[in-house]
Amino acid sequence: EAAEKGGYEHFMIKEIHEQPSAIKDTLRGRIIDDSEIVLDDVKITKEDLEKIDKIFIVACGTAYHAGVVGKYVIENLARIPVEVDVASEFRYRNPLVNERTLTIVISQSGETADTIAALKEAKKKGSRVIAITNVVGSSVSREADDVLYTWAGPEIAVASTKAYTTQLIALYLVAMDLAIKRGTITKTKVMELCTELKKLPEKVQYLLDNKDVIQKFASEHYNAKDVFYIGRGLDYAVAMEGSLKLKEISYIHSEAYPAGELKHGTLALVEEGTLVIALATQDDLFEKMLSNIKEVKARGGFLVAFAKQGNLQLEGVVDKVIYIPETLKELTPVLTVVPLQLLAYYMAVEKGCDVDKPRNLAKSVTVE
Ligand code: G6P
Repeated sequence: EAAEKGGYEHFMIKEIHEQPSAIKDTLRGRIIDDSEIVLDDVKITKEDLEKIDKIFIVACGTAYHAGVVGKYVIENLARIPVEVDVASEFRYRNPLVNERTLTIVISQSGETADTIAALKEAKKKGSRVIAITNVVGSSVSREADDVLYTWAGPEIAVASTKAYTTQLIALYLVAMDLAIKRGTITKTKVMELCTELKKLPEKVQYLLDNKDVIQKFASEHYNAKDVFYIGRGLDYAVAMEGSLKLKEISYIHSEAYPAGELKHGTLALVEEGTLVIALATQDDLFEKMLSNIKEVKARGGFLVAFAKQGNLQLEGVVDKVIYIPETLKELTPVLTVVPLQLLAYYMAVEKGCDVDKPRNLAKSVTVE
């Protein structure tokens, strides 16, 4: 097992470090001349798309969180309404799915029982199904009409990391493919996205090279009882994933909230020293985030904020700022999640938890 960990202490930290190459592998061969997207087994045509008026994204756990980002990106680029659902809810609520619906299921393992059942349910109702999965020949890859593989390589740690970032990459590619076919995206925007997608591996690497800051922070704060993650828009989607990472491996109670919802309840839980992670990487939402951050600060919260490199407005306002390299707004989640994965990992290590095999959890939930 030590050899398989390649010199790392745990699979999780090894897999976090594999993200730059996993992203590269997932992009490889799929972007042609920065203008065309080629997705091996996704054969949906322009004509097929004319008959589609709604998309469902269905998944569990971390894959569901990737889907929340996917909704935002597909709606914005391809201008089709998207609903995201956890597979165990979708199945039992008689969803409004028919032959005019496209369903995208996301599953690292391709074997999650609820996701497979949701896929079958969608097909039964006449929907075309695209599967995004990491395992060639898995159940979802066999059942779906179209398949897009994330080339993350085997993920061993129960807490998913490189599967999430490569699922995001797959969703960007699908969103662009749909948008190009539907004619809802300009050539310039496609080119911008292609150029920036290719730069993500080196930016993720930069965040990994600066992990000491996160490690040091974790060594000072691993005794936290509760941690709140707040953000707006895409930052909220990433907040959900950051919070899940922390609770699943460190057993620290954590919750993610849309920052605007704070004053509708959660603010009552903030007292002197409560740890709050505020994600503020979205330019258009920054001012609103700043006011939420100040509200938390005024109640004595200990605030760590994530901001875009070059934005110094939070210095002196919060207790610590983590800077995220500049990229396109849509792509920020791929970067923001990395320090959150590292934070969860180092908090769990400091607490002496079994990082790769957290209590009560399994890598793949094959029972319903
Ligand atoms: C389990 C794992 C998670 C994973 C979820 C969905 O809960 O611990 O890491 O996100 O299942 O798994 P899937 O293989 O369908 O992506």
